[in-house]
Amino acid sequence: MPMRFDVFTIFPEWFETPLKCSLLGKAIERGIIEVYCHNIRDYAEEKHKVVDDYPYGGGAGMVMKPEPIFSAVEHVLAELSPEYGKPPIILLSPQGRVFNHEVAAELSQHRCIFLICGHYEGVDERVREHLATDEISVGDYVLSGGEPAAMVVIDAVSRFVPGVLGNRESLLSESFANGLLEHPQYTRPRVFRGWEVPSVLLSGNHKAIWRWRRKEALRRTMIRRPDLIEKAKLSDEDLKLLEEVKAELGR
Ligand SMILES: C[S@@+](CC[C@H](N)C(=O)[O-])C[C@H]1O[C@@H](n2cnc3c(N)ncnc32)[C@H](O)[C@@H]1O
Repeated sequence: MPMRFDVFTIFPEWFETPLKCSLLGKAIERGIIEVYCHNIRDYAEEKHKVVDDYPYGGGAGMVMKPEPIFSAVEHVLAELSPEYGKPPIILLSPQGRVFNHEVAAELSQHRCIFLICGHYEGVDERVREHLATDEISVGDYVLSGGEPAAMVVIDAVSRFVPGVLGNRESLLSESFANGLLEHPQYTRPRVFRGWEVPSVLLSGNHKAIWRWRRKEALRRTMIRRPDLIEKAKLSDEDLKLLEEVKAELGR
């Protein structure tokens, strides 16, 4: 059974190209992932299909009205086949819990996910209080709309769905999967503009390659994201490698 995403947006066309490209495009083509983009404007009652209005109390900008968002979500929910279970209804918002590897893994356990994209100054608070079951931010900055944030969630969650990645090993070795950033990667040519690929990677010695990669992952994480090192579950071997890294860095 495919994993399904239902996106509620006033710009469904925004998703056309990203959903055709790369891994996600292939997963959709192969029927492993399904993405349905629903135009919130289609659910606006007025003849002019108005989806926003002035904020009560005054102030800058417009606010997305609650009625079309509730109608769109409730309509799709009512038509959803029971085999998809009860989907989380996620409001994309800079005020939500911050999206990361663990949240992506958690969301991938659902068969269907609803994603509501805000615009303008945001959405009427009653959407947050009485319709959304979760609120997700993709980082501490403000986007002009929820569409790029929804796309980030769809992409990262899809990578956990069996069959989407050609090589499931990537899931286990990539950055964050084991609490560390991934080691540096190289491909041909062996020498590019005088810069050589580390010789150990050409040695064919798998144990030495594993050790080099692990040490570089630890080095990279320690330099760039010391917060991750503090939380990572490190083996005795890792701790030895980390000591070597610290000595090399003079720490
Ligand atoms: C301009 S923003 C509204 C920001 C809102 N006035 C505030 O200060 O919290 C418009 C929409 O973009 C989306 N958005 C903006 N930043 C986001 C972020 N960091 N993560 C997820 N969605 C975001 C949300 O859907 C939001 O409703």
